[in-house]
Amino acid sequence: MKISLKLICLPLALCVIATHLFAQQQTIDQKVEALLAKMTLDEKIGQLNQYNGDWEATGPVTRDVGNKLDEIKQGRVGAVLNIMGTDHCRTFQDAAMKSRLKIPLLFGQDVIHGYSITFPIPLAEAASWDMAAIEKAERIAATEASASGINWTFAPMLDIARDPRWGRVMEGAGEDPYLGSQIATARVKGFQGNGIGSPDAVMATAKHFAAYGAAIGGRDYNSVDMSLRTLWEIYLPPFKAAADAGVGTFMNSFNDLNGTPATGNSYLQRDILKGAWKFKGFVVSDWGSIGEMINHGYAKDNYEAAQEAITAGSDMDMESRSYINNLAKLVADKKVPVTLIDDAVRRILRKKFELGLFDDPYKFINPEREKTALNRPENLEAARDMARKSMVLLKNDNNLLPLSKNLKTVALIGPLVKAEKELKGFWSLDVDQNKGIVSLMEGMKNHAPDTKFIYAEGCKITGTSHDGFADAIAAAKKANVVIMAMGEAPDMTGEAKSRSNIHIPGEQEELIKAIKATGKPVVVLLMAGRPMVFSWTAENIPSIVYAWWLGTQGGNAMADALYGDYNPSGKLPITFPRSEGQIPIYYNHYNTGRPAKSDTDLFYVSAYNDLRNSPQYAFGHGLSYTTFEYQNMELGKFKSSVKGLKPIQVSFMVKNTGKFAGEEVVQLYIRDMVSQPVRPVKELKDFKKILLQPGEIRRVTFTIKRDELAFYNDRLERVTQPGTFQIMIGSASDDIRLQKSFELTN
Ligand code: GLC
Repeated sequence: MKISLKLICLPLALCVIATHLFAQQQTIDQKVEALLAKMTLDEKIGQLNQYNGDWEATGPVTRDVGNKLDEIKQGRVGAVLNIMGTDHCRTFQDAAMKSRLKIPLLFGQDVIHGYSITFPIPLAEAASWDMAAIEKAERIAATEASASGINWTFAPMLDIARDPRWGRVMEGAGEDPYLGSQIATARVKGFQGNGIGSPDAVMATAKHFAAYGAAIGGRDYNSVDMSLRTLWEIYLPPFKAAADAGVGTFMNSFNDLNGTPATGNSYLQRDILKGAWKFKGFVVSDWGSIGEMINHGYAKDNYEAAQEAITAGSDMDMESRSYINNLAKLVADKKVPVTLIDDAVRRILRKKFELGLFDDPYKFINPEREKTALNRPENLEAARDMARKSMVLLKNDNNLLPLSKNLKTVALIGPLVKAEKELKGFWSLDVDQNKGIVSLMEGMKNHAPDTKFIYAEGCKITGTSHDGFADAIAAAKKANVVIMAMGEAPDMTGEAKSRSNIHIPGEQEELIKAIKATGKPVVVLLMAGRPMVFSWTAENIPSIVYAWWLGTQGGNAMADALYGDYNPSGKLPITFPRSEGQIPIYYNHYNTGRPAKSDTDLFYVSAYNDLRNSPQYAFGHGLSYTTFEYQNMELGKFKSSVKGLKPIQVSFMVKNTGKFAGEEVVQLYIRDMVSQPVRPVKELKDFKKILLQPGEIRRVTFTIKRDELAFYNDRLERVTQPGTFQIMIGSASDDIRLQKSFELTN
């Protein structure tokens, strides 16, 4: 009997389609369960193990492992880091495809502020207060990284920092929980784009959980000791914002929090993150932090450290080998139930499925995409725009800036005039081999080709030599205007870069004095990853721009601002102290029982007897080439309603009263005048960045929701208390332009 081929093929085709549809319909969780059921305990533990590639170490390297590719083939590795480029990543993914279950690897990388194109350091980006620009910067970084084999970035860093001695202050968003939360959301959205699994997105990491930036003395890796109220009020909000934004992973922190290392801290990782916040992603330890619990004195050996970490909710072990070497024995010894390991494995496998790696392990390893995705002109332009918005005009007495492009001669003096790779700052990658970076000198020449530029280094960044002073002075004397580019070396901030002295290093401030003494008009550009101390310069130099580390397009951006092609709009995301002795100093402090009544009040008040009470520059400070007037503040009334208090509206007018178009970041602060426990003298609750043409006036409206008046009481309950609230509208935390009060009655 002749059976039609159709009779055989049709049902077969239908079976294939049905299987495919069933597979698609199967939820990711069902796929995870199905895979988990096939895994041996060793294969499960392998998923919890992350190795560093041998190309670039970002921590103390342990070269005790034999061939990492063999370990991957044996299913003993779930993720790697510091392996970049599609060819390298393919080698490692090929090894994973030779393992029994072919579970693909995660490729993690510190894509902190750009991949091939370097954007301004995160603290500089924070000074832009421009969430759209920040999100776009991360979007571009993700597009480049995901084309080069990376599917997971260890960013954004969300550590609130109030101590500029801490080197990693450069990596975060400064001192304020509200600004830090807004930026956390923008960064997660930028990195993860249309969602984890989008081919041009990378899975993001909220780090370092938690309170790493509160290291005592600003000394990296040092202990953190604070009330739980401060933890919840100041340090946790950006992490909660990241979790709410759908961040894929968290990374814990090196520090102990009140005596319990974060890596072994189940209050942080289980009670808060996976419990109260219902976080479904996974927690990776920071580099070696599981093993470091031995140094902390929290575990006697790696066996105990592995037990403490897995029990406390650390899912993946970066580089300490504690898990791969001890978890099987801990299970055999009945010290760790296999259910804990299963939970960690589920979390990791779920992300690998969400990334689409089981459908295509080489999804992010596409040499064709890599060739076209990097260093695109439109993305270089975006980097220039981000850099422009990140600069802060600290002073501009006599309106020396912006410069005229018709200046005959300009002297460019200082050790950072020609800086190129330095402009990338810490946590930048070498994908670009430091090519195409625009120095200040190049940027200036691009803007004013007819101007004669005279260059003199003057002095080194560090050291005591004045040998270059004479040439610098001579150059200044020949010029109409002097531009000085001064600051730190880029490796003076970053991880393990805390400094007890944060003055402008070396003899640079002496050089500034010598150039000032020539009587020539002087503009000082300061480049650093942290707030530096420079009180003489601040008091004596009429025009100062804080240029941080602005990245690949830094020189063009600086010249754009100096020549007025861009009107600076940045506002400081962190307080600048007058001296190290003032630290910690931040705007949202309590009033105390004896607040100083003025900047020089010393009469039995809370003040230093040898220093003015105010900071050198306050949180939110930043000038423009134009001026803004605030007027006509109107405050609505809280109206009780069935659902409790309706939000109230605050509105006011802002007018550009100068002759340049400019952006102003209008800031809304509140103060709860009487409460128990007490509340800070100011708390940022909202801001808007608005562009106004000369003479333009615009009404700005904020809405204050009741929860924005709430705080944590001593029982960590989130409460509001009736009483008087001050609403302040400012151009900076120390430049309040309008204020009104209202009574909260219930
Ligand atoms: C470092 C840093 C962390 C980084 C990790 C991987 O020690 O603390 O921020 O993501 O190791 O490089």
